[in-house]
Amino acid sequence: MSDRNSEMHYTPPTSDTIQTKPFPIRGERANFVNKPHVIAMVGLPARGKTYISKKLCRYLNWIGINTKVFNLGEYRRHATTAYKCHEFFRPDNIKAMAIRTQCAVDALNDVCQWLESGDGEVAVFDATNSTIERREMIHNIVVKKMGFKLFFVESVCDDPEIVEQNIMEVKVSSPDYANMNKEEVLADFMLRIEHYQEKYQALDESKEKDLSFMKIYNTGEKVLVYKHEGHIQSRIVYYLMNIHIVPRTIYLTRHGESSMNLDGRIGGDSDLSDRGRSYAKALAEYIEEQDIQGLRVWTSWLQRTIQTAAGVNAPQERWKALNEIDAGICEEMTYEEISSKYPTDFAARDQNKFSYRYPRGESYEDLVARLEPVIMELERQGNVLVVTHQAVLRCLLAYFLDKSADELPYLQVPLHVIMKLTPVAYGCKVERIRLPIDAVDTHRPKPKIMGYLEPRFRRKGNNLHI
Ligand code: SIN
Repeated sequence: MSDRNSEMHYTPPTSDTIQTKPFPIRGERANFVNKPHVIAMVGLPARGKTYISKKLCRYLNWIGINTKVFNLGEYRRHATTAYKCHEFFRPDNIKAMAIRTQCAVDALNDVCQWLESGDGEVAVFDATNSTIERREMIHNIVVKKMGFKLFFVESVCDDPEIVEQNIMEVKVSSPDYANMNKEEVLADFMLRIEHYQEKYQALDESKEKDLSFMKIYNTGEKVLVYKHEGHIQSRIVYYLMNIHIVPRTIYLTRHGESSMNLDGRIGGDSDLSDRGRSYAKALAEYIEEQDIQGLRVWTSWLQRTIQTAAGVNAPQERWKALNEIDAGICEEMTYEEISSKYPTDFAARDQNKFSYRYPRGESYEDLVARLEPVIMELERQGNVLVVTHQAVLRCLLAYFLDKSADELPYLQVPLHVIMKLTPVAYGCKVERIRLPIDAVDTHRPKPKIMGYLEPRFRRKGNNLHI
């Protein structure tokens, strides 16, 4: 047999020949909505509507549904001169009311245009929508005129402490109150709430029979769901049933350096290196010093995370869902080996790292789907230390820090660094605590030339990326 023929007979496996699912999977999506959706918030001011809107938007984007928030306050600020005081919101302020109604119409037009353009899938309309008349107008535009789906989410809160806490946390820094002190803001905002209260009509299944909605009482103490329609609304209900606002901290870290990290090999289930074991000890000491109330520790099923968390004095849980991305036929290989054995796959991964699925393995997109139950449970928990892997942490960080699918596979997650996440206002603050133990650098930035392996990855014993 000539060399040429033998080449034809021995074709190394590629994504076309070996994958259970082919790559690239153009158009394939883990999640999608078959009809555009509008999620319209309902509730008095300072009931956490913006918090829910932003958080829901972050979650839906993370699971791959293109979502955007349209905040009516921003439209009003744009349409008016600087906010003076609560008088603007009096129900008998005819001039202001006309402006407010026009702003609502403009915002809804933008919502519909964005959804109609084909890009948008879910629009969250963040406004008080506090009367039956306003909700009827939304229904007429969104459902009757546009043929979209509409789901109302009402936040009901009669706990004065929660309301005051909300005002102090988020309203004092609102552009409306740029020149007021905290006491003035609180006083003005309480009067603003009173003006809304005069006309407020809670969602009512006897008077608004045709609407689909959910009501969340006192930040999740009780939930009511009425006539929800379809998959996406069920997921929204499920998600919103799981979130809470009790302050807590999530600590994220990779396992300590492993012997496969030292060899530049991906995947596998190796033990910690000597430096990895030093990190495990330092991590346990760090956590002990923090004296964290009710801490729980989650690891993957792989030895390197279990060994890293072994000395941490707190109840431990093992999650298979926290295992590293499955590199399929490339498991335990170096990047140099992959690039020479499977050059087409290697270049394809550089082209679209988020969607690329390792033959017989996983993509980052698959990983996000696998991690959804982890996120849901993390949302329910108090203080948690999660000890897991580079690709997994990129997915978790993307959720908490609102990073896009393009940014996600390149997020920096160095070894021997603890990432401390604390909820603040509408997002999450991240602090990076580097413990003083050296480790290999496993980060490979997005390459300028697709499929080109930089020299530093060509030497055995050097670093790798996942
Ligand atoms: C605002 O103007 O700040 C909110 C308007 C509303 O949703 O009622």
